[in-house]
Amino acid sequence: MTPAGRDQLQHPRFARQYLRIAAETDRRGGADHRERLLAGLSGQVLEVGAGQGRNFGHYPDAVGEVVAVEPDDTLRAAAEHTAATAPVPVTVLPGEAAELPVEDGEFDAAVVSLVLCSVTDVPAALAEIARVLRPGGELRFYEHVRSPRPWLGLLEDAITPLWRRAAGGCRPNRDTEAALRAAGYTVTRIERFEFAPSSLAPRVRHIVGTAVRP
Ligand SMILES: C[S@@+](CC[C@H](N)C(=O)[O-])C[C@H]1O[C@@H](n2cnc3c(N)ncnc32)[C@H](O)[C@@H]1O
Repeated sequence: MTPAGRDQLQHPRFARQYLRIAAETDRRGGADHRERLLAGLSGQVLEVGAGQGRNFGHYPDAVGEVVAVEPDDTLRAAAEHTAATAPVPVTVLPGEAAELPVEDGEFDAAVVSLVLCSVTDVPAALAEIARVLRPGGELRFYEHVRSPRPWLGLLEDAITPLWRRAAGGCRPNRDTEAALRAAGYTVTRIERFEFAPSSLAPRVRHIVGTAVRP
């Protein structure tokens, strides 16, 4: 990652807010979504954009190691702290989705949760994740996406420019399921549901599922 690219992925103010918001979201049901996201995983797992490590406590015992990549310095420091008490070994690395600091075909599975909304170049990130998965490897995803309700989708389109600036690059109007299919992944399991991440937020469309590497 170039120093300029690295700087673009630093959002210290959002990171400090997210440390608090994510705890509330998990209390409201996010923790259950993380359980469903990670159930049945085993072997070597790569987590992309791990934040402060809210998934770490949910990895099944059959996971041998998690390599957690996180570009934001504030969140990565928190992830290192969380990793110290995780039930499976977790190694935290700096890096970003479109340029992962790992070898080809190294991982049985990759995990993205609430990340593809923020990644600048989603096709590049999905291609890079495919590079590091073994043949047949799985991408597990948990994301909020554009609403299928026309009026809510249009509202999400309208607020996206401002929201991006306030929320660490997050776009509320991404069609991540379509992006996975366009990148050649086969979606083998998907749950679609409405969920309000905080008491102040509306219920918005989320997806949890599994896709197999192209
Ligand atoms: C809303 S937080 C979610 C954190 C965590 N995955 C979770 O489930 O709580 C979005 C995360 O995406 C990360 N992120 C943003 N752009 C990224 C990129 N290009 N590559 C990797 N991670 C990225 C942020 O640094 C942040 O950790």
